[in-house]
Amino acid sequence: MKRLVILISGRGSNMEAILRSDLPVVVAAVISNEPDARGLEIARAHGIATAVVPHRSYPDREAFERALAEAIDRHAPDLVVLAGFMRVLTAGFVQRYRGRLVNIHPSLLPAFPGLHTHRRVLEAGVRIHGCTVHYVTESLDHGPIIIQAAVPVLPDDDEERLAARVLAQEHRIYPQAIRWIVEGRLRLVEGRVEVAGAKVPSGVLC
Ligand code: GAR
Repeated sequence: MKRLVILISGRGSNMEAILRSDLPVVVAAVISNEPDARGLEIARAHGIATAVVPHRSYPDREAFERALAEAIDRHAPDLVVLAGFMRVLTAGFVQRYRGRLVNIHPSLLPAFPGLHTHRRVLEAGVRIHGCTVHYVTESLDHGPIIIQAAVPVLPDDDEERLAARVLAQEHRIYPQAIRWIVEGRLRLVEGRVEVAGAKVPSGVLC
C-alpha cells in the first residue's frame, strides 16, 4: 500500500476526511508546524504517529524545511499531502517532492490564490466558488489541477456560511484525488492532469 504523510497547521478536518475515507493507503504520520494544532489530537485518536516541527524554532525558512524534510523522509512516503498546511514552501522543498506533493486550496484556482479566499470571493461578487486539489509547484497555489468542486455563492452568504459549503466539498474531493493517485490513474500531459477512466473530463465535480 502507498504511504502518505499529511502536513497540517490547524483544525485538520481535511486530514480527518482522508483518515475516514477508507482509502487503500497507510497514513504513516501527520506532521504539524503548529504545536497546538487540533488536528494532532484527531490523528492520535486514529492511532496515527504525529510529529511537530515548529517553524518558529528555526532561524530561517531553509532550516525549518530541512527539519521538516527529515521528519517526512523518516516515514518514506509515496505522497506528501498538504491539508491546511499554512507555510509557504521554497522551490528547493517543492523540487525534493516533485510529483508526490499535493495541496488543497479553498478556491477555484487559478482564481483567488492566497489567503482569505471566501472573503475575497464575496467582495468580488462572483457567483461560483469552490475548491481545488492540485500538484504543488514552485509558484504559490498553482500547479496542475487534479480535481475541483464548485458551489454557488448565495445572496445571503457570509464568510462562514460560504466557507462551510466549500469545506464540505473539500472533504469530498481530497479523498477522491488521493484515490486516483494511489490507483495510478493520473497522468501529467503537457503540464495538465489526465484522469484515466474518469466519468467527467479533467476531474470536475459539482
Ligand atoms: C482548508 O479550507 C484548506 O483548503 C485551507 O485551509 C483550510 C484547512 O482546514 N488551505 C489553504 O488555504 C492553503 N492555501 P482543515 O485544517 O480543517 O483541513
